[in-house]
Amino acid sequence: MSGAPREAACQHVAARIVEKTQENARTVMLALDAALECIPGQFAMLWLPGVDEKPFSIAGADPLSFAISRVGPFSERVHALEPGDRIWIRGPFGAGFSAAPGRALLVGGGYGAAPLAFLARALLACGGKVDAALGARGVGDLLFVKRFRDLGAAVHVATEDGSAGMRGRVTDVVRPLLRAGGIDRLHACGPEAMLDALASLCTETGTPAELSYEAYMRCGVGICGSCEHNERLVCRDGPVFTIPTGHASGS
Ligand SMILES: Cc1cc2nc3c(=O)[nH]c(=O)nc-3n(C[C@H](O)[C@H](O)[C@H](O)COP(=O)(O)OP(=O)(O)OC[C@H]3O[C@@H](n4cnc5c(N)ncnc54)[C@H](O)[C@@H]3O)c2cc1C
Ligand code: FES
Repeated sequence: MSGAPREAACQHVAARIVEKTQENARTVMLALDAALECIPGQFAMLWLPGVDEKPFSIAGADPLSFAISRVGPFSERVHALEPGDRIWIRGPFGAGFSAAPGRALLVGGGYGAAPLAFLARALLACGGKVDAALGARGVGDLLFVKRFRDLGAAVHVATEDGSAGMRGRVTDVVRPLLRAGGIDRLHACGPEAMLDALASLCTETGTPAELSYEAYMRCGVGICGSCEHNERLVCRDGPVFTIPTGHASGS
């Protein structure tokens, strides 16, 4: 099962960067002079001619925004861009998260928090309550703690080195929250091991969940097969999937 279906056709946008904000040690938020009709959890392909084209979660629709972590050659080049520079966008693609009233727990591991503040705004706009559980190796890798607090979400933090919040993995703060009851849905984005652990916890506690997975992507539209994972195409059938026993999506 995949998450909420796409709502808009693919657009090609030549955009300029209007704002660049350092979010943590290795992540910048870029706001562009463009808007895209999309829902949280969908992604777009960012293209720098002569460099490469890579997938990134949409972190905001208007202005169109992306949170880019520096992990390799492409993200290094994106980090070198400044306000006024151009970047090319192809999207939106994929199935996103569904937004419904109730109490939602949003779980982000590292830069996996990128689409979740966008989702939090959508959930709050439809009358929902939001808890955010954010995990990272250390305080320098935590993303969007202040953004979630500014939105009014209850924020729970875990770091593996204990430099902020609880020492441990984000699943260590999620487990008691789910077992205590009162969480209607869980939405998560982050490393596969974190998502697999959350899937087990949600199955154990009967919590509906939508999980956003990553994969190597080339075309982004279900043609090349490079993003195949467990017989699904992550770009087309995901990246947001409901866990097998979940009932969170509209599909
Ligand atoms: C749907 C989707 C949404 C994404 N959203 C964001 C986002 O919002 N912000 C962000 O910073 N990044 C995001 N990414 C990840 C980003 O696309 C990759 O990190 C990209 O490869 C960066 O390119 P690079 O040339 O800088 O680094 P690369 O050299 O391509 O990658 C750096 C390292 O990460 C590994 N890697 C890259 N992609 C994957 C993968 N899919 N699975 C496992 N390992 C991988 C590589 O093997 C390498 O070791 C997203 C990916 C997907 C599929
Ligand atoms: S990226 Fe080509 S099929 Fe998914």
